[in-house]
Order: sequence, then C-alpha cells, then structure tokens
Amino acid sequence: MSTPTSIENISTILVIGAGTMGRQIAMTAALAGYATTIQDISEDGLAAARAELEAWAAGRVAKGKLNGETAAAALGALAYSTDLDSSAANADFVIEAATERLDIKTQIFERLGKLAPAHAILATNSSTLGSSKVAEATGRAAQVCNMHFFNPALVMKCVEVVRHESTSDATVETTMELARRLGKEPVLINREIPGFIANRLMGAVQREALFLADSGIASIEDIDTTARTALGHPMGPFALMDLVGLDVIDFIAQATHAETGAAEDAPNPRIASMVSEGKLGRKSGAGFYDYR
Ligand code: CAA
Repeated sequence: MSTPTSIENISTILVIGAGTMGRQIAMTAALAGYATTIQDISEDGLAAARAELEAWAAGRVAKGKLNGETAAAALGALAYSTDLDSSAANADFVIEAATERLDIKTQIFERLGKLAPAHAILATNSSTLGSSKVAEATGRAAQVCNMHFFNPALVMKCVEVVRHESTSDATVETTMELARRLGKEPVLINREIPGFIANRLMGAVQREALFLADSGIASIEDIDTTARTALGHPMGPFALMDLVGLDVIDFIAQATHAETGAAEDAPNPRIASMVSEGKLGRKSGAGFYDYR
C-alpha cells in the first residue's frame, strides 16, 4: 500500500514564484510530464515567465535539442495563476520559490497547510531558510522539507533535499524520487546547516577569490580563467556570482552570518556596495562584468 506522500500519488505540481528559479523549475517539471502550475502574485511576473519559457522551448526546438511535440506538450502542461488558494487545492507536490523572506514564506506555508490536499508534500526551494522555520505553520511538519535547485534549473543536475527534525522518511524518499523523475541527481542533507552543501562550497571559493582580487594579487578575469583552466570549473567565481545575482550572494551571506556569527561568513563590503549601486550581475546588465 502506498503511503499518503508516495510518488504514485504525485501528478500535479505547484511552483510558487515565477522568478528566475521558479519558472525553470516549473518547466523542468512540465518536461517530465507533470501538470504544473506556476503561481505568482504578479501578472507581469507570470507573463515574463511564460514569454521566457516559450522562447526557450522554441530555441531548443530550432537547435534540434528538443522535439517539437515534447516542447508543445510541456508548454501545454504549464498553467499560470495569481490565485494561490485554487492552485494549492489540487497540488500533490508544492515547490515554493518565492521571495527569500521568512514572513512571506510563513504566510504561504500556513495557507498551503490549510489548502493543499492532505497527502501533499510542501517543499521550499530556499537556499537560506531551513524548512523547519515554516514547517509548524503548515500543521503537517512531517511533509515539509527543502528541495533546493540550482541556477539555471533547467540545466543543473543537483537538487539538495534537506530534512528537518520532523521530516518523515516517506517525505524524503518521495522528494528524492521526484527529483530523479525530473532528471536530477538529488543529494540528501540530514540536518539543517546554513548554506547546505553547495553554497558552503561555493562560498569558500568566492571568499578566496574576493581575497585575491581585493588584495590586488590578480585580476578578476585571471582568477576566473584559473578556476576554469586549472580546476575545470564551468565558470569562474566572479562570473558565477554575476549569474546567481550579487543581491542573492549578499543575502545568502547575511542570512548565513546571522545564523553562524562566523567571521568568514560575513557579507563582503565590495559586494554590498555593488548591490547598493544597482550592480546585481547579469540580470541588471552589470556586475563584476559588463553585459550591456
Ligand atoms: N537557462 C537555460 N539553459 C541554459 C542557460 C539558462 N540560463 N544557460 C545555459 N543554458 C544551457 C544552454 O542552452 C546549453 O544547452 P545545450 O548544451 O543543451 O545546448 C548549456 O546550458 C550550456 O550552455 P552554454 O554552451 O551557453 O554555456 P556553458 O557551457 O558555459 O554552460 C552553464 C552554461 C550551464 C551556466 C555553465 O557555465 C555552468 O554550469 N555554470 C555554473 C553554474 C552554477 O554553478 N550554478 C549554481 C549556482 S548556485 C545556485 O544556484 C544556488 C543558490 O542557492 C544561489
């Protein structure tokens, strides 16, 4: 007999948040054959997500990387909604990828706890907030975990599944299996720790890269080149920070530092001042590099 949260019970997925992560997570789910709703409070955000995903699919078909029928089926499997309540009512699995604010996430999870079917798993894509922070608000803490994707989510294979103290084994197993069915290679994190695995590793490289650049030891271009040509990283740490978004990097550092208090986790002043100047990386047209 299947458990209430088993993979067999999952056919519809709700992704909350139409931003960079949410839209690509939703497309990944749609490509895997799941009926997927993207919910966002902003009509403009939903329209931008739809336009980007349609353009992405058309580009893949034109390049011969995606079959036209598969693309059409995936686009057809996607629904867009501003209404959280009705979207949650028939979701078997929810992936929240909204703003990284605890007050907003808590409100969302409280509503999900009331509205989603009893068997539904409620996951957060958050990289900074462990799901224990929102689990109690749902009234079904055992069915809550982090399911953390990486940017660009249509490409990156890793999904970090993070359990909190009360997450059930069935929730972990189903979330891991869902990630596999989405074509990912999930890893399990048994205990909440700021930054999980990937952002801790990435943070260590970034800290060292910033030290080398800030000390005038090497240019950001040469540091990035070295990461690629000596270490085989697909992109250097500065190019990667621009891809992730300097506001996101700064936020992760703030959140991590607030929790650990460790000097090495403190936000970098150079990044903080770039953020205040509106230099957020690729999405704003400039960061460590110029994209205009
Ligand atoms: N969206 C969708 N697909 C994309 C994409 C995007 N933004 N950018 C690149 N791709 C696809 C391309 O279409 C291409 O696909 P095909 O090979 O099938 O045609 C493939 O990715 C490779 O792209 P490119 O040839 O243009 O460039 P590349 O080889 O340099 O790859 C990259 C681009 C995949 C981004 C690669 O550079 C990479 O892996 N970079 C590191 C990314 C990374 O570390 N991400 C994690 C960030 S941390 C995070 O997300 C967590 C957090 O909490 C902040």
